[in-house]
Amino acid sequence: MRRPLVAGNWKMHGSGAANAALLAEFELRLHSEWPVDIAVFPPFVYLADVARRLRDAAIDVGAQDVCAEPGGAFTGEIAAAMLKDVGCALVIVGHSERRRWNHEDDALVARKFAAASAAGLTPVLCIGETLEEREAGKTEAVVARQLDAVLAMNGVAPFARAVIAYEPVWAIGTGRNASPEQAQAVHAFVRRRIAQQNANIAGQARILYGGSVKAANAGELFAMPDVDGGLVGGASLVADEFYEICAAAAARHERV
Ligand code: 13P
Repeated sequence: MRRPLVAGNWKMHGSGAANAALLAEFELRLHSEWPVDIAVFPPFVYLADVARRLRDAAIDVGAQDVCAEPGGAFTGEIAAAMLKDVGCALVIVGHSERRRWNHEDDALVARKFAAASAAGLTPVLCIGETLEEREAGKTEAVVARQLDAVLAMNGVAPFARAVIAYEPVWAIGTGRNASPEQAQAVHAFVRRRIAQQNANIAGQARILYGGSVKAANAGELFAMPDVDGGLVGGASLVADEFYEICAAAAARHERV
């Protein structure tokens, strides 16, 4: 059985005081016995502080990006081992905002995935099509290309642990989430593609949905058989919303 994961991507939001307030409010309500993994992804400069705050909590900490190189003369970059050193357990690679604004291509994302895995971090690989690509009927071709680049460089074995996040670009920050059926169709496609290499690993791989997840739609999205949780942006910054989304994931687990 796949344990659900709810991951909060804070993007470039927060401050020392705001993070402390958000976590305090969220933690107050959290049920540590819930059968769900929870992780938050603060901006780099807050990682060490958030990791310290959450040391005894049932909440993991992850980074939003990582350098593909293990270390050296790369001004402004952060190595995977450094993330591990300050208490990170996970790292997002290939978020569509980085693919777009930082011009990250599939090859670079595959190298970042490798760097994260080598350092013992769990990569959260983001894939997803733009609206134009969906309307042109290219959704499967796009996510297959994004996934295949990582599989070609890393093999299928890391997916026993690694997480995939299907985030259709048109659903991110728009308030317009994919329907549960749309999400399920792509998640099932991704799982079949991994199964072509290893059916056992495909059954273990966690595939999250991301894009305008909120308390009001989390239940129906997580009810889909191949949706193993969510990668949540805006709603992860609101303690009540994030709590309700985690509760929806916990309820799903009990039904499986
Ligand atoms: P929103 O939940 O704000 O749409 O963001 C989704 C996302 O990009 C998470 O990585």
